Amino acid sequence: MRLGIPLERTAHERRVAAVPASVKAFTGWGWDVRVESGAGDAAGFTDAAFAEAGATIVADAAAAHDADLVLRVDRPTFDEIALVPEGAILAGFLDPFVATDVIQALADRNITALAVEAVPRTTLAQAMDALSSQANVAGYAAVMLSAAESPKFPSMLVTAAGTIPPARALVLGVGVAGLQAIATFRRLGAIVHAYDIRPETKEQVESLGAKFVEAPTQEMDEGGYAKEVDEETAAKQQEVLAEFVAKADLVVTTAQIPGRPAPRLINADVVASMHPGSVIVDMAASSGGNVEGSLPGEAVDVNGVTILGPIDLPSRVATDASRMYARNLQELVGRWRTDDGIAVDLNDEVAGPATITSGGEIINPRTRSAMGLEAVSYT
Ligand code: NAI
Repeated sequence: MRLGIPLERTAHERRVAAVPASVKAFTGWGWDVRVESGAGDAAGFTDAAFAEAGATIVADAAAAHDADLVLRVDRPTFDEIALVPEGAILAGFLDPFVATDVIQALADRNITALAVEAVPRTTLAQAMDALSSQANVAGYAAVMLSAAESPKFPSMLVTAAGTIPPARALVLGVGVAGLQAIATFRRLGAIVHAYDIRPETKEQVESLGAKFVEAPTQEMDEGGYAKEVDEETAAKQQEVLAEFVAKADLVVTTAQIPGRPAPRLINADVVASMHPGSVIVDMAASSGGNVEGSLPGEAVDVNGVTILGPIDLPSRVATDASRMYARNLQELVGRWRTDDGIAVDLNDEVAGPATITSGGEIINPRTRSAMGLEAVSYT
């Protein structure tokens, strides 16, 4: 059973899909692990550390992809897919509901594709939930980025040179990333307000020592996710939030609606009402933006207010993001482990729904629907 860990070549990517601890687990299962030379460098894991954990260091992408199972962070390029043997398994963030051309290429090569985005968000699957582990890291990284950019201390300081008031932080969207953002702002000593469209978040916000902003809330969809709001609700939200945004020194926005553009929560006129030196980190910048004027991967200055749209937040904490992600993958592929390697089991409660392609076909219903294909049923 050959397992390959390639070096990630996507721009800004510093993470790696295995770390020495997961390599140790895999070799303990009797698997032959091949790590591409330099794969862990940007995350702080050297070739020597991987070798010590039992991996063989291989020279290039071709050798790392030539395996029965390939673990990746980002989705492969078409050239990389061509390096993977037909019939192999490949797992990673495959963007399976959007990057359907990549999914088709994987199916055409009869590669079984496991997309971590499609792992069910159930209690049973928590250890395999890479969306959550990486959102957690991203929430932390967004706060640190905002604090580093700000010309103010986050906490109150009483010094001989005077008393510095605490910064006022605002977190919009209280999913996994938002909860970590609140907790991190609190640890830094800021006064924190937070808001989410889902009513049950109020209690979570308060349990972290922050105050909930009483803007409109509404019930979730059947999958536990937020639904898009109507125009009237959106206008009311923006009106209530405007007052809190205007007073904030640090704002982190995380609001997302799966499969839809991110909701607009802060308009340009509200940004214009903020005081110079305040910082907004829009974590939804690449899916349309919660903040008018934010740009993915850019810093925008609006009369002294900085709007950041980072696209590499988990990679900014690459060591720990990789540790958590590697563990998620170890647990996920561990679901299919057999005495002599690995066997695809579409009936597995966690790995089954995460399987996008199998037997040369695209089997995930959401991917099929995104591609305009009929549903298939597998028993
Ligand atoms: P996400 O990244 O999809 O969205 C972030 C947040 O934006 C969500 O909390 C959402 O309610 C909020 N949002 C959307 N539209 C908004 C609007 N117009 N105004 C304000 N906020 C808005 O969310 P994430 O972090 O992926 O979590 C999604 C859901 O999955 C949550 O309900 C979460 O509790 C649940 N979950 C359950 C897990 C489990 O049971 N193991 C694990 C992880 C998440």
